[in-house]
Amino acid sequence: PTFTPRSNARAEFVVVANRLPVDLERTADGTQRWTQSPGGLVSALEPFLRSRKGAWVGWPGVPDVEVDEFSDDGLVLHPVALTSDEVRDYYEGFSNATLWPLYHDVVARPVFDRGWWESYVRVNRRFAEASAAVAGPGATVWVQDYQLQLVPTMLRELRPDLRIGFFLHIPFPPVELFMQLPWRAEIVRGLIGADLVGFHRPGGAQNFLWLARQLIGLEPSRGSVGVRSRPGMVQVGDRTVRVGAFPISIDAAGLDSLSRSKPVQERARQVRRELGDPKTVLLGVDRLDYTKGIDLRLAAFHELLQEGRVKPEDVTFVQLATPSRERVEHYQQMRSEIEQMVGRINGEFSRVGHPAVHYLHQSVNRSELAAFFSAADVMVVTPLRDGMNLVCKEYVACRHDLGGALVLSEFAGAAAELSSAFLVNPHDLDGVKNALEQAITLDPAEGRRRMRALRRQVLTHDVDRWARSFLEALGTEAAA
Ligand code: ADP
Ligand code: G6P
Repeated sequence: PTFTPRSNARAEFVVVANRLPVDLERTADGTQRWTQSPGGLVSALEPFLRSRKGAWVGWPGVPDVEVDEFSDDGLVLHPVALTSDEVRDYYEGFSNATLWPLYHDVVARPVFDRGWWESYVRVNRRFAEASAAVAGPGATVWVQDYQLQLVPTMLRELRPDLRIGFFLHIPFPPVELFMQLPWRAEIVRGLIGADLVGFHRPGGAQNFLWLARQLIGLEPSRGSVGVRSRPGMVQVGDRTVRVGAFPISIDAAGLDSLSRSKPVQERARQVRRELGDPKTVLLGVDRLDYTKGIDLRLAAFHELLQEGRVKPEDVTFVQLATPSRERVEHYQQMRSEIEQMVGRINGEFSRVGHPAVHYLHQSVNRSELAAFFSAADVMVVTPLRDGMNLVCKEYVACRHDLGGALVLSEFAGAAAELSSAFLVNPHDLDGVKNALEQAITLDPAEGRRRMRALRRQVLTHDVDRWARSFLEALGTEAAA
């Protein structure tokens, strides 16, 4: 793409997220290029925002670079610079070694560090100032995710004329866990500056309402919050803040048509051939993150092989794992554990030219991903906790042939919508093994029945519906 600089842009609709939808990459020969940023937030919001010609405020993904604003196919990108100390303290530290594990049920121990908190406050202020400079009079600003929870109130102080929404893409934790955070009241105060605070599930909204009462003495409404309906209300001075549940989704129609295309179908057949035409292909696709339960699914597969319930000549496991947050300690530990497990399983069960597990620590492009989804008989999604999980929805969107089966953790937000999957408790290894075996030996008619039900849900609840329902509840023109 060609980027043309634009100055003094005053946008009517602004998305603010820690990352821009593209990452700056410096290649070995000193040149630079832009690549798509990792993760579900960008996958979900980018197609939506492109169709609105909005502005996006975010970090270009590398420390210590100043990049001017530029526009990419109608979308205006406003880079916010972070120093290497801020990347260490605000991003790797407070965002990803404090908030990320705390909000994901403490599956790893969160670190509480005062210096990291100070950096988080400073960087949130910088994002608020950048957004205030970009937004036109009375504009709608939509702040995203756990890295920027102080921005709504900071931005309101700078620009009371704006309509401000906030959406949390990860789970909002049980109040007992949230209460561990030394800066719990500051976070709730930061969020309450929005006109609408959105979560994936009603439980998250309910937890937030309880905290607003307990920690800052507000008086929230008492009724139960629905999905895309009956938001909670809190009066803050003369403002009414709404708190609701809006399950995020994918560009389902786009992925459906991509997966039907000839090149993708041909590539899917080629993938199976290259894997040696096994009877069954199992697939995992994740950022390499300790919340995703990649180790659990490998352990389940290993035991099935050891018990002879699955034959290595019949069944192949493919795990695609996008590199993620590689300087954070828990991520380094998880990576070496997974790589050891892959080595051990392959040592015991591979034959020359036929590994039992194909492990790719790589990111692949959308067409390639659609081909893998089309080629896989069983999609294995086993997070210990996940706000939503888009991968399972993407798999379903790619199965217009009604083939394939989905094994899905109960602890992914998506489980509430995808009840025709094989739902598992990822902590129950025997349960996971049984579900894998059921999915591998599934009767095709039963498989089609399940996939039809899954597709009905995913195709009618796409990312556009998510964004529109949020923006309607926010009461902004941008919903149109
Ligand atoms: P998270 O946001 O925690 O990473 P999600 O499942 O919500 O989890 O979103 C992950 C997104 O990243 C999906 O759009 C998925 O297709 C994409 N993705 C994950 N792993 C890979 C990979 N190895 N190659 C390409 N895309 C990937
Ligand atoms: C999840 C988070 C996003 C984040 C993404 C990738 O989807 O909810 O906010 O951008 O993971 O993680 P990263 O740390 O690389 O931005």
